[in-house]
Amino acid sequence: MNLDLINLVGFESQKLKELETKLNLIANKTINLNHDSLVLQDDNLFFNFKKERALTPLKIDIQKGALGWRLARAQHERHLKKAIGKTDRPLRILDATAGLLGDSMIMLALGHSVTAYEKSKILFSMLNNALNQLPETDPNLLNFKLINSNVCETNFNEKSFDVIYFDPMYPEDKASSARRSDLKKINSILEIEGLASDPESTFTYLRNIPNTKLIVKRPLKADAFKGSINYQVLGKSVRFDIYLN
Ligand SMILES: C[S@@+](CC[C@H](N)C(=O)[O-])C[C@H]1O[C@@H](n2cnc3c(N)ncnc32)[C@H](O)[C@@H]1O
Repeated sequence: MNLDLINLVGFESQKLKELETKLNLIANKTINLNHDSLVLQDDNLFFNFKKERALTPLKIDIQKGALGWRLARAQHERHLKKAIGKTDRPLRILDATAGLLGDSMIMLALGHSVTAYEKSKILFSMLNNALNQLPETDPNLLNFKLINSNVCETNFNEKSFDVIYFDPMYPEDKASSARRSDLKKINSILEIEGLASDPESTFTYLRNIPNTKLIVKRPLKADAFKGSINYQVLGKSVRFDIYLN
């Protein structure tokens, strides 16, 4: 993998050893601005993109920034709530595309239990690190599981989940400007890991899980995946296509 692992901590921590093993890299101590780097500094693990990508570093903090703001107002997420539907009990949700965990965390804050899949080892390591910063007493964490795998490599049956949530990558020009920069960063990381984007085949895989409601998040004007949509929830810049079977 064409990536530097940088240790700015000053000593070789257990966390560093785990990262070296997981990513099959040996850490060094200085950031080279012409290389992509995953940087461990104190408790933080952030991604520094090489200069030519012209991207600001990716730092995942679940409690601060845009996600922290959304989480503090989770009940205001009316489109996502509507897509999930009214329920008098917490639902078991499979988030097939964890990404930066925004939607997973909102669904957790709405009281559901969430199992999220992320195929990128780099993003998974960063997400794990961000989750470890949360207080152990955070009640939401008891209902959350993050798995580092392509979701299509697990066999699910009709009893596994009540709802499947799928937020695939899509062409950046169709994304709202707020999402565009996050998507560019995720895309660059997937490219570094040589992970191809194949939303159609993931959609088909998820659509074939029996008796489970599938919610697909799309940019408002993007084409839908093949197959008949049962209903849609329209937001300002995104929509949710809902498939029932
Ligand atoms: C658009 S992002 C999801 C953003 C996420 N909903 C959020 O709120 O941050 C899509 C993510 O899903 C991951 N992904 C795409 N296909 C996947 C698959 N088949 N299995 C697991 N992860 C997948 C990508 O690596 C990427 O990180």
